[in-house]
Amino acid sequence: MKTIDEQGYHFEEWLTPQEIAQDVAQVADRISKDYQEKEPLFVVVLNGAFVFAADLIRALKDIRCEVTFIRVSSYWGMSSTGKLEFIVPLQQVVDNRDVVIVEDIVDTGLTIHQLKAHLRGLGAASIRVATMLFKPRKLEYDDAKPDYIGREITDEFVIGYGLDFDGFERNLDAIYKVKE
Ligand code: PRP
Repeated sequence: MKTIDEQGYHFEEWLTPQEIAQDVAQVADRISKDYQEKEPLFVVVLNGAFVFAADLIRALKDIRCEVTFIRVSSYWGMSSTGKLEFIVPLQQVVDNRDVVIVEDIVDTGLTIHQLKAHLRGLGAASIRVATMLFKPRKLEYDDAKPDYIGREITDEFVIGYGLDFDGFERNLDAIYKVKE
């Protein structure tokens, strides 16, 4: 069993690189079928999703697509509408495009909930979500349920394959779970 120690926490390997590759292939196959006749725009949510996105787009089959990036910070402010802060704003026109948001993990769903509203406002023709990991028990926003999921996970803290611990460990090629 491979282990990692980071800032006093002990992590054990949960998904091997081979298992991750199988999950990515399964997601890529489904997207390839669903977007056969379209030219999707993949919107990769930085930072965590860059590793999954790099593998996912290369595993797509016979798809003509574009890839762009966004970095957001989402929170509910004093107003009831919520706020989305653009740390790296969207560079691409999404009007009339079939958008696939790419995430490393969907947790409460707040980020996706707000990002979807933003992209709808910009005129996206359709919006779906692909994520490597999904925590269904943590989901607080119905419209944030991902369309393409690599693996479901309970409420454990995970690192590796893009997921960080205070900015570190994103480069691990496996996904590790914290051990109490
Ligand atoms: C993580 C993840 C999602 C978001 C999910 O990003 O990449 O964007 O949190 O959480 P939510 O479903 O509760 O909104 P994070 O803010 O950790 O930034 P990072 O991608 O740069 O690590």
